[in-house]
Amino acid sequence: MATKVVVVGGGPGGYVAALRASQLGAEVTLVEKQALGGTCLNVGCIPTKALLYTTELYRRVQGGADFGLKAQGLAVDWPALQARRTAIVKRLVTGVELLLRQAGCRVITGTARLADARSVAVTMPDGGETRITADRIILATGSEPVRLPLPGFDLPDVILSDQALALPEVPESLLIMGGGVIGVELASVYQTLGTKCIIIEMLPQILPNLDTELANGIKAHLTRLGVEIHTRAKVTSFSPDPDGIKVQVVAPQGELGFTVSKVLAAVGRRPATRDLGLEAAGVATENGRILVNEYLETSVSGVYAVGDAIGGTMLAHVAFAEGTVAAENALGMARKIDYKTVPSCIYTQPEAASVGLTEEQAKEAGYKVKVGRFPLAANGKALIEGDEGGFLKIVANERYGEVLGVQILGPRATDLIGEAALALRLEATLDELASTIHPHPTVCEAYAEAALAAGNSALHLPRRR
Ligand code: FAD
Ligand code: NAI
Repeated sequence: MATKVVVVGGGPGGYVAALRASQLGAEVTLVEKQALGGTCLNVGCIPTKALLYTTELYRRVQGGADFGLKAQGLAVDWPALQARRTAIVKRLVTGVELLLRQAGCRVITGTARLADARSVAVTMPDGGETRITADRIILATGSEPVRLPLPGFDLPDVILSDQALALPEVPESLLIMGGGVIGVELASVYQTLGTKCIIIEMLPQILPNLDTELANGIKAHLTRLGVEIHTRAKVTSFSPDPDGIKVQVVAPQGELGFTVSKVLAAVGRRPATRDLGLEAAGVATENGRILVNEYLETSVSGVYAVGDAIGGTMLAHVAFAEGTVAAENALGMARKIDYKTVPSCIYTQPEAASVGLTEEQAKEAGYKVKVGRFPLAANGKALIEGDEGGFLKIVANERYGEVLGVQILGPRATDLIGEAALALRLEATLDELASTIHPHPTVCEAYAEAALAAGNSALHLPRRR
């Protein structure tokens, strides 16, 4: 008889777990309370990138003279852009629905809760309840935005990222609380659309989890656009104002006051695990995140958890990987994830991407390092694309030349980082990267040149004396 698997949550972690379990012969039921595709497809990765893509295109054509273009009457059609965002999301969500149907997974719309270690209670949209028994359960309930207990946080002009993606009109001004990934991507979008954006970040650097050089590259981009950035600054309160909303901030230079049309709160996300019946079923948690072992099994045997719900790096590609591995382990395998190959990507222009260790992290970990760096000013394709300010940097172990990490700032860095992830996965060396024939002209040629630069033998850079 087929193993019965119930997956709770239809985001990247959950729907991939369902598809993989079904491939392995299980009888799968997936319960989703809102929309298949979860945060990523509906209000995360995909819609943000759709907005970033159009605003970038707009900026490029606006600066057309640099590319030998003349443009007149160019404007962003906000309702049309919103319609495009919605259409892309709809198409991808329909795709997920289709994949699940074709795989024979049963999809139930409802809110699930663990009834015990082997069954799930589902509250249906009409208020009725049904119970599903399972041999294995995979929890993939994702995350929700952090809300801060600040005076005025509940005012209607304080919005979260979901609303920021679908504003009926472009606001005149936007104060963004939190200079993390959401903050910088949406600042890039709205500032390009003509909104005056102000970022308030409490730490000394925006994108605090990113390599400092990459974060500085993004900061330079935002500053060029006109975004006002305050670091080491904290919002203390919000209050209504006839012109929008008033925001009080404590910054190193003293108290600051801003009156803006809207405030976007983007101060991180936390696992969405409340009301999931975890405690009653004996599933251990810590600050709301579900605790799992290296096989992604929770403290209750046969119950697995994946994605944002287990905390750690909250990214869709991590959720995909965990969903796959949890399904395999639920069906008898013993697989683990190689977290060292998880890329971090920022989709502004220039893009920033990083995988593995930075130079400082490698040194802190005790490696003697060798670094190869290639400035994209010496790369023909970057020049053609008018985006030559960045670099590609490889950090390697001095002894064997094994690649330990890569950081890229420049055009399509988020696609290019895939090669670095593979290099880490295969324990590739600088010599192997240098002797791999890369197509010309491309930005990815910079891999071979950076690998050669580590030995001071890049062909398209003057030799260091
Ligand atoms: P989710 O996608 O959150 O899915 C969880 C699902 O579970 C939801 O559909 C929810 O409705 C459902 N659910 C919850 N509780 C229950 C219940 N009790 N019963 C039934 N269903 C339930 N990541 C990237 O890698 N790249 C990006 O570019 C990127 N951009 C982002 C931009 C924004 C604005 C945001 C907010 C996030 C972004 N992320 C990005 C992060 C990414 O969206 C998440 O890491 C990813 O969606 C996590 O997948 P998940 O399956 O764990 O959770
Ligand atoms: P984040 O963790 O990236 O950034 C939150 C920022 O807010 C941090 O810089 C933090 O120091 C700051 N902060 C916290 N409290 C503050 C306060 N009181 N005042 C001022 N600043 C404060 O979280 P974010 O941007 O909300 O994104 C949530 C998740 O979504 C992240 O985990 C990220 O991985 C994911 N995401 C990924 C994207 C990508 O991969 N390109 C794009 C957007 C989101």
